[in-house]
Amino acid sequence: MSTVRVFAKDLEAFVIEAMRRYGIHEDDAQLSAQILVTTDTWGVHTHGTRQLRPLLKNFPIGRLNADAKPEMIREGAAWTLLDGHHGVPFVTAHHAMKLAIEKAKICGIGYTGVIHTSHFGAAGYYATMAAEQGMVGIASCNADPQMTVPGGRGKVLGTNPIAYAVPAGSNKPVFLDIATSAAAANKIIRAKLLGQSIPEGWLVNADGEPTTDPSGFPETGALMPMAAHKGYGFALLVEVLAGAMTGAAMTKEQPSWVTGVAGNPPGPANQGQMFIAIDTSAMLPPERFGERMDWLLDYIHDAPKAKGSERIYLPGEIEWEKREHALEHGMILPPDVVESLQGLAGDVGIETLPFETITDIESE
Ligand SMILES: NC(=O)c1ccc[n+]([C@@H]2O[C@H](COP(=O)([O-])OP(=O)(O)OC[C@H]3O[C@@H](n4cnc5c(N)ncnc54)[C@H](O)[C@@H]3O)[C@@H](O)[C@H]2O)c1
Repeated sequence: MSTVRVFAKDLEAFVIEAMRRYGIHEDDAQLSAQILVTTDTWGVHTHGTRQLRPLLKNFPIGRLNADAKPEMIREGAAWTLLDGHHGVPFVTAHHAMKLAIEKAKICGIGYTGVIHTSHFGAAGYYATMAAEQGMVGIASCNADPQMTVPGGRGKVLGTNPIAYAVPAGSNKPVFLDIATSAAAANKIIRAKLLGQSIPEGWLVNADGEPTTDPSGFPETGALMPMAAHKGYGFALLVEVLAGAMTGAAMTKEQPSWVTGVAGNPPGPANQGQMFIAIDTSAMLPPERFGERMDWLLDYIHDAPKAKGSERIYLPGEIEWEKREHALEHGMILPPDVVESLQGLAGDVGIETLPFETITDIESE
């Protein structure tokens, strides 16, 4: 069996060049490449460089603007409301979390809400920015409806992801980065393409009944929330903190960030995004907080293991280990990511892809 392997620096260079050919400014392309490729190194391939091709298609048709910069609408001591002006969404989200961190340095906590923006990829990247500064970070966004709610039929809420990251003493930051749906839409579409059934609890059919048959999605049916009413409740919280509170579009008024989706409301995506930073040193000296986190994490790691289990993972631990491996040995990209990058190369006329073909993936 053969597949392709790519090294982070080569993939970043490819992303920068592709973005440059779409008219994105060099520094914005560099930052975007760093965000998307970091996501791939975590193994979160659903939201890494795979997303670049569909996102870039928004620029030539005016749904995104390479020259736009985020602008402050209003601010208080601990919060900012930003207008993304439909600029490069990764850059806007990065700027928003930086502002939250700056406010938290002064007030102990900072919040940034953003309107007029689009797909920022994995929420976790922005949460870890705060953790790198010794702060707790939370990042989230609303999205166009893909998910049903308990008792409902059809698509009601977005998959509204939420991520947190916590600095953790001598450990790498703990970070959880999840959609509030049971499974990402990409996973269902992939199963559909492969003619496979999906696990119970992921999808409802056109009548709102649970199904393991992905063939009708996304035209009909809807994703199920994670953990039933609990995921629904969190998706709603995200809709409030990122959507209702900021003034961004919400639910059925939210155009998909993907171009050409049937039934899309007119105009560009107007996602609401929110970024929170909490400076733990406002409550406890950093070394004391670090000791407490180390104690907590050791306690969890050392908990008795279930039959057949050798290890307990902390949120984020799998991603940090994958990243370390990817930086040293390169990473194997799933076929849908390869296809997306090949398509992008074709779109912009890049002839040399950053991949290396390998035939023995057992040893990886
Ligand atoms: N921008 C958007 O509109 C949007 C929408 C939906 C999802 N997303 C992104 O999709 C990505 C994937 O989301 P998902 O819901 O498929 O994630 P997922 O279900 O794969 O869960 C991933 C999270 O669970 C943790 N985890 C996994 N196994 C664990 C274990 N055994 N012990 C402890 N922690 C464990 C991981 O560390 C990670 O934080 C995220 O990056 C999310 O931000 C983005």
